[in-house]
Amino acid sequence: MSDQAAPKGDYHFYDYKPAQDDMADEVLQGLTSSPKHISPKYFYDTAGSLLFERITELKEYYLTRTEMALFNAHLPDIADQLPQHSCLIEYGSGSSLKIRKVLENLVPRAYVPVDISSRHLQDNAQALQEDFPELDVYPVCADITQVFALPVQVEWMPKVAFFPGSSIGNFEPHEARDFLRNVHQTIGPEGALIIGVDRKKDHGVLEAAYNDAKGVTAAFNLNVLRHFNQALSANFDLSNFRHEARYDDLGGRVQMFLKSLEDQEVQVNGEKVHFCANEIIHTENSYKYHPEEFLSLADGAGFKPLAQYDDKRGWFSIYLLSSA
Ligand code: TRP
Repeated sequence: MSDQAAPKGDYHFYDYKPAQDDMADEVLQGLTSSPKHISPKYFYDTAGSLLFERITELKEYYLTRTEMALFNAHLPDIADQLPQHSCLIEYGSGSSLKIRKVLENLVPRAYVPVDISSRHLQDNAQALQEDFPELDVYPVCADITQVFALPVQVEWMPKVAFFPGSSIGNFEPHEARDFLRNVHQTIGPEGALIIGVDRKKDHGVLEAAYNDAKGVTAAFNLNVLRHFNQALSANFDLSNFRHEARYDDLGGRVQMFLKSLEDQEVQVNGEKVHFCANEIIHTENSYKYHPEEFLSLADGAGFKPLAQYDDKRGWFSIYLLSSA
């Protein structure tokens, strides 16, 4: 028998069984609309998640690297401004490197990762419980765009929400405001939010970040069609589509598309979908925010700035916001 002390932290899995859209219906609906579109949630099958990890390591994709450097430099300062014995709520639990850094610095009492993918969530949560044996870990399987109840065990703790990676930019601005309002409601009036947001900048820099020279982003975008081939017995020929990323100055966003290179017909779940030559499928937006734009969005959701951390080039910002 091992003489190692058993973990002292509590562990409980909360499964709210979030309603998942019917994939075939939703995909066919998007592919028969005009313009055609696909929900970005279908990017992240196993192959897609691995490709996204490779994106975060690309020279052109400065976001992850810049945010991580900001956390490395400023987490002690952030921790100084937060209450002790807090409950850290991570929205979308895909960033295991970042969360370890944050846990080491913030030393919360409890950690609540929230994600729609139950298996991923529990795997990550269990690994963290082993590495932080004194931490209470309460994974919650829920849709982060909806309001959900926090585990009863954390009711008395001050709440700190964590939403890194500029994932806020993947919402439409009105959805981003609704999301922030929901976070505000969840953490209550004595909470804080740590959020990473990518900024507007030189269009060439932005377009390169979403259209790298090695073609990893292209492979990531195209992988959604391969995912449909598998999950919906579709017959997309990936060589008949091309990845495109363009900065839309008016919208303040990078837009991702897949362009049909020829007039073609594709089977999706037993139905025929027609593509004209050069017809595009919109797959994702990534909105970029000037600090004053983001802070106004946050203000509309009841958040006030406590601190802002920027890299030297002014490319990315981490905000510490108060819900008071
Ligand atoms: N959250 C990431 C971002 O907006 C997602 C992303 C990065 C992405 N590269 C992509 C989405 C390429 C679609 C295609 O930066």
